[in-house]
Amino acid sequence: MKAAVYRTYGPPEVVSIEDRPCPRIGDNDVLIRVHATTVSSGDWRLRTLTVPAGLGLAMRLFAGLRKPRQPVLGTELSGLVVDRGKGVTDWDPGDRVVAFPGAKMGAHAEYVAMPADGCLAHKPGGLSFGEAAAIPFGGLTALEFLRDKGRLQAGERILIVGASGAVGSAAVQLAAHFGAHVTGVCSGENAGLVRSLGAERVIDYRREDFARGRERFDMILDTTASAPWTRVRHMLTPKGRLVIVSSSARDMLRAAVNRRVIGGVSSGSHKGLRHLVRLVEDGAFFPLVDRIYPFEHIVRAHAHVDSGRKKGAVVLSIIPDISRRGPAAGSADTHRAQSLRA
Ligand SMILES: NC(=O)c1ccc[n+]([C@@H]2O[C@H](COP(=O)([O-])OP(=O)(O)OC[C@H]3O[C@@H](n4cnc5c(N)ncnc54)[C@H](OP(=O)(O)O)[C@@H]3O)[C@@H](O)[C@H]2O)c1
Repeated sequence: MKAAVYRTYGPPEVVSIEDRPCPRIGDNDVLIRVHATTVSSGDWRLRTLTVPAGLGLAMRLFAGLRKPRQPVLGTELSGLVVDRGKGVTDWDPGDRVVAFPGAKMGAHAEYVAMPADGCLAHKPGGLSFGEAAAIPFGGLTALEFLRDKGRLQAGERILIVGASGAVGSAAVQLAAHFGAHVTGVCSGENAGLVRSLGAERVIDYRREDFARGRERFDMILDTTASAPWTRVRHMLTPKGRLVIVSSSARDMLRAAVNRRVIGGVSSGSHKGLRHLVRLVEDGAFFPLVDRIYPFEHIVRAHAHVDSGRKKGAVVLSIIPDISRRGPAAGSADTHRAQSLRA
């Protein structure tokens, strides 16, 4: 099978498409023919070893000291079940699925083996494969940080910093769905998009320092590492929480001693993924797709992610999606988001 492989850390050009053996499945696994996957900020971190301050050694120990231990990146995918182990009864060949290998990676390939009880769900019928592939990374992170870690309540006021990224665009939609009043921080060019996702107010970080405002929030969700506790604590209500999606070592130490600072990593549960799929089917959540690249243009896809300016997800199409209803290749989608709220 074809897979995108990197054997050394570095710029987008370290990635190339090679022939690799097709993964073998065990008794309790399914084999998925991948139709679409994404290049995420997680892939960028693993490819470049760019990590929050103080976590460089931990990242090398995880990813491989001198070279990548797992040469195939890719945290999320959509596709078709094509084979199953003899112990699997829940999934049938032909099932359309969305899956999150997460930190195990490996989704930048034509085939992926997943445990049948892993982070796997039926693909929502109304989405293309490209759109469905963009559900887990941003959606699961947003869901877990808002609902499970931050315990966001209806009626609370939340500030979401980095509201146009994969995690931020999902967080704006989910927070609004949970009944919170959302203020998003993004660049002016993404203000309309973030409003269309459910933000009541938008702050353009290039024109205004969000930390100087008078408004108080019950939760600040920071996806950009630009809202450390010392900078934003005065913006929180007495019970307000700072929820940091991308924690430095210092943030982790602070979270260990201060219950109002929350960090950690998303666990990527199948229950969470199935919940997100139901929200998609109910029209309450739509995974925002920025651009769709053919698999062979994976280096360009990585380069776009490296810009730090993507809106939602950057999708790789492994099998061209003729039923695609999403954004045109090479353009940011705002229409689906707007129609979601219309
Ligand atoms: N803890 C976990 O388990 C976990 C899970 C997933 C992701 N993460 C981390 O979460 C972070 C966000 O991930 P992501 O995938 O959402 O990133 P992303 O999609 O690459 O974020 C790009 C977006 O960030 C916006 N942005 C950049 N600088 C900003 C600033 N100063 N203020 C406001 N917006 C800004 C950009 O908007 P403009 O173009 O308008 O500037 C762009 O839309 C990453 O650090 C990632 O590693 C952690």
